[in-house]
Amino acid sequence: KIIVLDYGSQFNQLITRRIREFGVFSELLSHRITADEVKAINPKGIILSGGPNSVYADNAFDIDEEILNLGIPVLGICYGMQLITHKLGGKVEGADKKEYGKAELNIKLDEAPLFGATPKNQVVWMSHGDLVTEVPAGFEVVATSNDCPIAAMQNRDRQIYGVQFHPEVRHTEYGTDLLKQFAFDICGAAGDWSMENFIEIEIAKIRQQVGDKKVLLGLSGGVDSSVVGVLLQKAIGDQLTCIFVDHGLLRKNEGDQVMEMLGNKFGLNIIRVDAKDRFLDKLAGVRDPEQKRKIIGNEFVYLFDDEAKKIAGSKKVSFLAQGTLYTDVIESGTETAQTIKSHHNVGGLPDDMDFELIEPLNTLFKDEVRALGTELGMPDDIVWRQPFPGPGLGVRVLGEITEEKLEIVRESDAILREEIKIAGLDRDIWQYFTVLPGIRSVGVMGDGRTYDYTIGIRAITSIDGMTADFARIPWDVLQKISVRIVNEVAHVNRIVYDITSKPPATVEWE
Ligand code: XMP
Repeated sequence: KIIVLDYGSQFNQLITRRIREFGVFSELLSHRITADEVKAINPKGIILSGGPNSVYADNAFDIDEEILNLGIPVLGICYGMQLITHKLGGKVEGADKKEYGKAELNIKLDEAPLFGATPKNQVVWMSHGDLVTEVPAGFEVVATSNDCPIAAMQNRDRQIYGVQFHPEVRHTEYGTDLLKQFAFDICGAAGDWSMENFIEIEIAKIRQQVGDKKVLLGLSGGVDSSVVGVLLQKAIGDQLTCIFVDHGLLRKNEGDQVMEMLGNKFGLNIIRVDAKDRFLDKLAGVRDPEQKRKIIGNEFVYLFDDEAKKIAGSKKVSFLAQGTLYTDVIESGTETAQTIKSHHNVGGLPDDMDFELIEPLNTLFKDEVRALGTELGMPDDIVWRQPFPGPGLGVRVLGEITEEKLEIVRESDAILREEIKIAGLDRDIWQYFTVLPGIRSVGVMGDGRTYDYTIGIRAITSIDGMTADFARIPWDVLQKISVRIVNEVAHVNRIVYDITSKPPATVEWE
């Protein structure tokens, strides 16, 4: 594998990403790692990432210099290159002006392994304040650009390379080629990393970690927890117990599907907690969105804890499994990831329940988790499931929640999903659902006047849910959905389409 040391650049995820894309496993690790720790990992190569600091800043991120002496090839990107220079006796200076954006790179040397057979002039993407003005002894200048006399450097004897630009960014014309050159040509990586051997390795790891102890998993029916469930089931079978809290705010047939698919087909040992009445009782008469969310969240944790305690008491559960993804780990910082994430998915497990965490997906990106699910034989219905909020339909029935309103949302949502799938749009639209604002309006059906509910259709495209644009569903598809909902769902006489992006709106209506 190739390790990437984290110096804080916003592009760090992309580096590991790109390298994985060509079949070499890659992981982001803290820059505080010691040479001994690196030796123990024994990576094929090391990349020092970019970062926002100057090497002269007071608490500038540093490197254990011995890492540069391990004989493992090193590539410094941006800050990484400046750090190498600074450490090995070259010179780094503040540039007169910050360089940001595309630049023309000019490669000066014929023997430049990083650049392989790519053209001598190429477009690269720069983003830096400081730059290297003098390479360390033993290094040669490989390339220049207009504003950057030393845009790439190398020391072939020591296998240490540096580039001032960002090869991981798509705007760098031959960036992928450069990373490939580093991984294969310079580091000699095999390029045989795949989901198949990920599963094998992960199963072995889980078996070793768990031994003959028991593991508990909170199953939501979403992609991540389902994949964790199936993977653990393959690894440790009945030592795994899943808890599935059905709060009665799920989509049509969802609870049964989870039980059928994961319980029956995949043989997971699932305790289904049917708590619909409890949730609806607690929610009766409550109109405020935040209060609704709180009630649902608290009740959820309470029920989960209750079940967990029952099982933990009787069977000596030592592990709690979670579907934490790589992005979650990175977002909370590679430094502190371990402590920050504890229990965050299940909320408030009491302190006296001393679980160790198992997070088998915490090195994977979302699409890699999907690939893993497929490799594990899971159906597209689960693997490509759209995101669904924890509070479920509770935030899609606006204002007070009643069984009648839940039924209307559930049925209309099922029709919407069916038609989106028929139209072949289910993988293009990031999330799509119906909402029930508590308004009624006048309509006419047959010869009679109606006074009934309005259904809102929400469909968005997004990368991560943080920002979103409304999806452009073709009119004829919308028309079909509209006709079907009005005809098939009682008490609905009007359909509206939400055409706001996020911001200013949010994805959910509450
Ligand atoms: P908003 O409405 O905040 O939604 O723009 C962004 C994304 O997050 C989902 N969402 C939630 N997911 N618990 C969750 O697990 C929640 O409380 C929650 N609220 C919103 C929403 O469906 C969308 O994908």
